[in-house]
Amino acid sequence: MAINENKKRSAVHACITCATGNGKGVALSYLGVIPDKSCCIIFDPYGEWDKKLGKRPINQYRTRRGFARAFAHAWQSGKPFVLSYFPQSDKNRTDEMLWFGDLAWAASDGNKTLYTVFEEYGKCTTSVGKDETIVGEIFSGGRKFGLRAVAIFQRSAEIPKTIWANSPIKVIGAQENINDIKRIQEQLDCSKETITEIGLLNTKLAMYVPEWDETVKVKTHYLVSKGFGHYEKLASIVEPCRHIMKKWDEEQKAIHKNSEYRLINQ
Ligand SMILES: Nc1ncnc2c1ncn2[C@@H]1O[C@H](COP(=O)(O)OP(=O)(O)OP(=O)(O)O)[C@@H](O)[C@H]1O
Ligand SMILES: [Mg+2]
Repeated sequence: MAINENKKRSAVHACITCATGNGKGVALSYLGVIPDKSCCIIFDPYGEWDKKLGKRPINQYRTRRGFARAFAHAWQSGKPFVLSYFPQSDKNRTDEMLWFGDLAWAASDGNKTLYTVFEEYGKCTTSVGKDETIVGEIFSGGRKFGLRAVAIFQRSAEIPKTIWANSPIKVIGAQENINDIKRIQEQLDCSKETITEIGLLNTKLAMYVPEWDETVKVKTHYLVSKGFGHYEKLASIVEPCRHIMKKWDEEQKAIHKNSEYRLINQ
């Protein structure tokens, strides 16, 4: 059970929200939400986290038993780790996520810090009000037990208020829905144009790659807020696409060079 309650610990929970393909994964990898040398577990319903989190290797497990054993071992070792749990396709996603949340809560210890990531949280919840599940409990009471939770989702309007309101850190990428834009505007106290610019920049700097027959994002942009009414403009190169920057035309190069978004991976 959660042990060593420590009321001095501050809440460092985070929400990462972007429309699909606009850089939620890139943000988790590079924006520093999960520090290097931290202990981190990821609930990964689509199996996206099987290789690396930024530069850190990930060990992925597909059974409760395998994940729980590896987590217990890593957590007791006192060394940093990143582990992900990708449930098998015949399992109920929400049940698996609640099991994962229970495990994080049971392991939590106010003397240590555990980053606990919920990928695609919007697909695992139906509430937009109070989150009565273990995930709500982690976001509202987990800080005292060293839990730093991260919820990743496409649409903030579909997320329980418990999660949004208890996350001082908000990473906002490109948005496609007016209700989400309104919610973010209220939170950041910014203009609609400030939010719509993010998606425009992502698109302007995207490139078609003939070998992949795909148009890919080369640089993704974010507003990163660490409290009501404050935000910083940050951007990340999408590392697997870094080599494509060389092929940008003059206009794209100028957008990149003159950008007011601080690049976090030069
Ligand atoms: N390995 C890769 N190779 C090429 N392009 C990539 C790669 N990973 C990401 N990208 C580009 O970066 C963009 C952002 O990717 P990312 O995985 O962070 O998006 P996402 O918001 O997590 O998407 P989803 O909603 O599907 O989970 C993609 O749309 C793609 O254009
Ligand atoms: Mg993703």
